[in-house]
Amino acid sequence: MRTIEWHESIDSTMLRAATLASEGCETGTIVGADRQTAGQGRLGRNWHSPDGGLYFTVVLRPKVEMRDLPVVTMALGLGVADAVQMFAGLAVDLRWPNDVMVGERKLAGILAHWHDGAVLAGIGLNVSQPDFPPELRDQATSLALETGTVQNRDVLLRAIASSIETHVKILETGGITPILRLFTNASSYVAGKRVRVEMTGGDVVGTTAGLTPDGFLILRRDDGTEMTITAGGVRPA
Ligand code: BTN
Repeated sequence: MRTIEWHESIDSTMLRAATLASEGCETGTIVGADRQTAGQGRLGRNWHSPDGGLYFTVVLRPKVEMRDLPVVTMALGLGVADAVQMFAGLAVDLRWPNDVMVGERKLAGILAHWHDGAVLAGIGLNVSQPDFPPELRDQATSLALETGTVQNRDVLLRAIASSIETHVKILETGGITPILRLFTNASSYVAGKRVRVEMTGGDVVGTTAGLTPDGFLILRRDDGTEMTITAGGVRPA
């Protein structure tokens, strides 16, 4: 039986999950909330977490090396995408490293990091939000907006948790290669996509040209030189 700790409101499920992980909770333990007051996004951003979304963190104890985290996060993205496609009947795209997209709009975000020997896999899925604040309106979407149906969040939660565990198992047993292959097949962003990458030193524009063996994104600049993107926000150019 999986342990699920649910909160009406919490600062961030990542913080509570970190405490549970440090206390030695079992792999697969979930902390979730109806809303978050200090939701964390990638690259130090906030994650807008009002009622209507599904916000949870799964504590995982995968049998992988610490350096494999980028591929673990890809496995998480694949898991979320498969579950959403299966249970909401909605075709989705994956934007490297692990944004779940419908067209140019983000449906779900994933944040993963190591904590005390466990991976904290935080997932924020927009489920029934009918609208978003003006600053997010062009970039975000929800299952309700895309399908006209309000999905059962408990069904989605269990489906996603099980799907991400399946993909992490593929990584544990088959290594990095099958995950990179699955991701490459599932994502329109891996190759031949014109993108702008937001980096600390300024934006870089180019065309994507595949993944490195570690799962990083290769960007071919217009002068033909290639660079490896290890972090940063990828946007259509
Ligand atoms: C991203 O920036 O794309 C990642 C967003 C991750 C949001 C989820 S919501 C559940 C968990 N708790 C948090 O505070 N963040 C993650």
